[in-house]
Amino acid sequence: MIGLFDSGFGGLTILREVRKALPQYDYAYLGDNARAPYGTRSFETIYKYTLEAVTALFDMGCPLVVLACNTASAKALRTIQQQDLPRIAPNNRVLGIVRPTAETIGNFSKSRHIGIFATPGTVTSESYLIEISRFFPDLKVTQHACPFWVPLVENGELDSEGTRFFVRRDIEQLLAADPEIDTVLLACTHYPMLQKVVRECLPAHVKLISQGQIVADSLGDYLKRHSEIDSRLQKSGQARFFTTDTVEFFKKGATLFGQDDVFVEKLSLEA
Ligand code: DGL
Repeated sequence: MIGLFDSGFGGLTILREVRKALPQYDYAYLGDNARAPYGTRSFETIYKYTLEAVTALFDMGCPLVVLACNTASAKALRTIQQQDLPRIAPNNRVLGIVRPTAETIGNFSKSRHIGIFATPGTVTSESYLIEISRFFPDLKVTQHACPFWVPLVENGELDSEGTRFFVRRDIEQLLAADPEIDTVLLACTHYPMLQKVVRECLPAHVKLISQGQIVADSLGDYLKRHSEIDSRLQKSGQARFFTTDTVEFFKKGATLFGQDDVFVEKLSLEA
């Protein structure tokens, strides 16, 4: 299976696009719902939790794991790839979603000013600033942390007055910091669930970009280039779902994310 990991439900927005583009593969989705959100936690905690999740996905037979979470990609990916992988599973692979997004985002902007909404963890890591400057050194990038958006999504508040208040406020703050922004990236996998509200609150000329399609294209490309990994993946089009919270909690949330009638298993990650 291809493993996809997120702190909670957010990675389901990535899984949906990945399964559309690559329906033949088998997938295991793991949401660490019991410990979400990650975005306001320390580097040490995010790294520890992410490594536990990656190890669990390896143990259940995923030679390839995608961190379908920007916070985990920004804070834990490099350490896992460089320090842990050679020790625990040298033939397995872990990919993140910051880099493929950074490689593409500059293609959307005419004004060369873009805005990024992300969790506080992703913003303070500066991963997007660093990665984007490699591929598009001419882009002016302004980040804005939205600490309230993930708790709103995890609690199903997708279109309430409270959600509109925070979305409107964060958009105003971002555009006040750089009025020339013509492209906004939702750099947290939970945020596409707020897409309708964000779109309504953004000026019409500003493009709104989500990562699902970008990650799906990049994964397809990776699998074409890495036949040694591809040949180890089952292809019967199935998906299994795992959560660290209760099965009932996950099922209810997954429905909001458009995944009805999923078979969910509970998993404990703590050592
Ligand atoms: N969905 C995650 C991301 O893409 C993180 C959400 C959180 O747990 O704060 O950043």
